[in-house]
Amino acid sequence: MTTTGQVIRCKAAVAWGPGKPLSIEDVEVAPPKAHEVRIKVVATGVCHTDWEFLFETGKGMKIRPFPLVLGHEAAGVVESVGPEVTKFSTGDTVIPLFLPQCGECERCLSPKTNHCRKNWANTQAGVLADGTSRISCKGQQVFQFLGVSSFCQYTVVPDTSLTKIRSDAPLDKVCLLGCGVSTGYGAAVNTGKVERDSSCAVFGLGAVGLAAVMGCRAAGAKSIIGVDINPHKFEKARTLGATECVDPRDHAKPIQEVLVGMTDGGVDFALECVGNPAVMTAALESTADAWGVCVIAGWTETEAMSVKVEKILMGRTLKGTYFGGWKSVQDVPKLVDEYMNNKLELDEFITHNLPLDQINEAFHTLQSGNSIRTVISLWQEEA
Ligand SMILES: NC(=O)c1ccc[n+]([C@@H]2O[C@H](COP(=O)([O-])OP(=O)(O)OC[C@H]3O[C@@H](n4cnc5c(N)ncnc54)[C@H](O)[C@@H]3O)[C@@H](O)[C@H]2O)c1
Ligand SMILES: [Zn+2]
Ligand SMILES: [Zn+2]
Repeated sequence: MTTTGQVIRCKAAVAWGPGKPLSIEDVEVAPPKAHEVRIKVVATGVCHTDWEFLFETGKGMKIRPFPLVLGHEAAGVVESVGPEVTKFSTGDTVIPLFLPQCGECERCLSPKTNHCRKNWANTQAGVLADGTSRISCKGQQVFQFLGVSSFCQYTVVPDTSLTKIRSDAPLDKVCLLGCGVSTGYGAAVNTGKVERDSSCAVFGLGAVGLAAVMGCRAAGAKSIIGVDINPHKFEKARTLGATECVDPRDHAKPIQEVLVGMTDGGVDFALECVGNPAVMTAALESTADAWGVCVIAGWTETEAMSVKVEKILMGRTLKGTYFGGWKSVQDVPKLVDEYMNNKLELDEFITHNLPLDQINEAFHTLQSGNSIRTVISLWQEEA
């Protein structure tokens, strides 16, 4: 029986308000409008940013609209397409993208950035291009997170926020390329442009940081120092390429001084993958003064980062990365190919698999430091 053109009733994990656990609800997902695609979500990762929006909203962070369906690191299959959609059809395997690539705006046409602004304001406001969301629950509009909302069995996304991938890719693995792994890997290879035989420090060894370690290794770095306050992360970091690991709490001196001492003047590249302004300052100050490059991948809205002028004046560079610098529509399928050709690791990042109705447990294990990524299966009976 076709569902094209019909409202689909399905399950979603709804966030009714900041700080509250997600609640599994029956929701209604409207058909796609012009330039929109409705997808059946097969698997989704749970990213630190989902946690942050749920638990930090209002605590110094802008108030976001609720109720909300979180989730932005997913893979699925196209169920139906709206009018004027030319690049997708029913049955395509896809990864939804929180960062679009319209291919037409000034930024998409520039090789300098991946930061397409298509639908940007609406996405930040939790709605699609027409100012409304396609998900509702109990007669109430439910906002869409970053234009995706993958904690729902079906979702509707703009056709510029979706990329088609090869049909043989395992969706419960390549979903991680929708955010965390792509971000960290690209932070090293695209934004930092880590060089062969260089020295690197990666602060924070969650999915983003471990992927940055993997990117430093792929770029041929000679030394890769993993930094985390949770030593349980070190083993996996070594597996993915870290040559040494440091727990700042084992040292009396600030971590930047420890790293400068270890590397005889500072690392060539530092990547911040925590989202903590004090760690960002430490990352910058751990780089070599004449040419050190510090890339900020961690995300926070709550506080400013402090930068001493003298730390920049001598020649250090401070950069930020959004989605690892990848031009999303064109590059994500290539990352899928890299995974399929055993050039990029994903399985190592998946420490837990859970059904949708246990999604709160995924937040809990992420926050307690016991997981790297939990992959949620949206269709338990098919798992
Ligand atoms: N730039 C982007 O496009 C983008 C995309 C995805 C995620 N992010 C951000 O990247 C950050 C990391 O995401 P994640 O999913 O890997 O998170 P995570 O929670 O899995 O990992 C964070 C790691 O940082 C460690 N840590 C905490 N405080 C530390 C400190 N003071 N020093 C060293 N390590 C410390 C934790 O122990 C943990 O291992 C978050 O801020 C997230 O919002 C940014
Ligand atoms: Zn994310
Ligand atoms: Zn664009």
